[in-house]
Amino acid sequence: MKVSPSLLAADFMHLDAEIDMINNSEADWLHLDIMDGVFVPNISFGFSVLEAIAPHCKKPMDVHLMIVEPEKYAERLAKLGAHIMNVHYEACIHLQRTIQHIHSLGMKAAVTLNPSTPVVMLQDIICDVDMVLLMTVNPGFGGQAFIEHSIDKVKALRRLIDATGSKALIEVDGGVNGKTAPRLAAAGVDVLVSGSYVFGASDPYKVIKELREL
Ligand code: DX5
Ligand code: ZN
Repeated sequence: MKVSPSLLAADFMHLDAEIDMINNSEADWLHLDIMDGVFVPNISFGFSVLEAIAPHCKKPMDVHLMIVEPEKYAERLAKLGAHIMNVHYEACIHLQRTIQHIHSLGMKAAVTLNPSTPVVMLQDIICDVDMVLLMTVNPGFGGQAFIEHSIDKVKALRRLIDATGSKALIEVDGGVNGKTAPRLAAAGVDVLVSGSYVFGASDPYKVIKELREL
């Protein structure tokens, strides 16, 4: 299992220490949540924070854009060295073009689904993407309760990937903790995003290690 801790739950007064923790941990990636107050009813952080973090972050950056017109920012993210650019299905009119553009800039391309968007909507794009990020809460906030239907959705996505021969990874985001993570692993998830469960832990190194071992 890959683990991508979400910085949204970090202590923003001490971001340097939080990045050091991630660098020294077994985390595979660092998940960075960008919100615009339009696509989601919250605003997180933007490019000035990403630019401050990028030179110090030793883990590949997994950038989750909860914004309208995410394609506008592909060049800037590529310049920052982002590894994966996650765009929401609901925010992209020309999703295939956006995926091509992300690839042309040398990044991995992931498409993200809100809880209400069915997996079947990915049928014609599944072979073009490197990863699908399933939201297991409604995007916008950390610390929310896991949506139970997500387990069936992971299974449906696993079936679609297997049926089409797609190489896409399955990532989940929201409400991932010690109870939900083993069930998500059994349903076929490849990458766990976790915010409050990791950063709120008394020993985040141990929590990251345990998630990785699933
Ligand atoms: C929510 C974000 C998540 C968030 C998850 O919209 O996309 O990445 O940090 O937080 P937890 O793990 O606390 O549910
Ligand atoms: Zn996220």
